[in-house]
Amino acid sequence: MIELQGITKVYKTGSQILEALRGVSLKIGRGEFISIMGPSGSGKSTLMNIIGCLDTPTAGEYVLDGDRVAGLSFDQLAAVRNRKIGFVFQNFNLLPYATTWENIELPMLFDGKNAHKRKKRISELLNAVGLYDWRDHRPSELSGGQQQRIALARALANDPPILLADEPTGNLDSRSGEEIMAILTELWKAGRTIVMVTHNDRIASYSQRIIRLLDGMVQD
Ligand SMILES: Nc1ncnc2c1ncn2[C@@H]1O[C@H](COP(=O)(O)OP(=O)(O)OP(=O)(O)O)[C@@H](O)[C@H]1O
Ligand SMILES: [Mg+2]
Repeated sequence: MIELQGITKVYKTGSQILEALRGVSLKIGRGEFISIMGPSGSGKSTLMNIIGCLDTPTAGEYVLDGDRVAGLSFDQLAAVRNRKIGFVFQNFNLLPYATTWENIELPMLFDGKNAHKRKKRISELLNAVGLYDWRDHRPSELSGGQQQRIALARALANDPPILLADEPTGNLDSRSGEEIMAILTELWKAGRTIVMVTHNDRIASYSQRIIRLLDGMVQD
């Protein structure tokens, strides 16, 4: 599903050059549940952003579900991202002035889905995360755990085969964190490929395999 070969990422800021990734090669199969771990600054988020087509590598090859991502234009990349990948972030990244319903609707609007399809899917997702009664509320009226469940529902709006989660439980108390992990586990059992960054061994133990990064390289 995800195949990286010799991926590097170099950031240049002024005269400073920083190698955030230094030759990362890895394969993630369809339906795997992977954790990425490693110290702060080891390149975990940089790697996730490249896997998620939010950023492009400086060098290396990336094949996503059979497509050579490196060869795609900006618009093609955005289309791949919207169809194939759902994102969840540590700080939820919901739109503050939109209701939970509207937050979940957004990726479907970008995908050009009609009003009937959108309504049906949003209702399904709100029920799946147990927050249908919160559909007209804004994110600030929800707890962190509830906001992350809405973010998960939004990530699933277009039914993507891959879910990427960068420290999805990092800002949550342990009970809310377990709730999020229970949903992720269900999604994985339903056949989705999940790649998650975490600093927490207990959270990582939900996954099948751990990739450890150190100084921009795969250590283990
Ligand atoms: N946009 C950027 N411009 C310049 N340097 C960057 C940029 N993004 C990340 N870096 C640098 O790249 C390195 C890797 O950062 P990254 O965010 O991938 O680490 P991380 O493993 O996710 O860390 P954390 O656990 O703290 O989230 C760091 O040294 C960081 O300062
Ligand atoms: Mg990070």
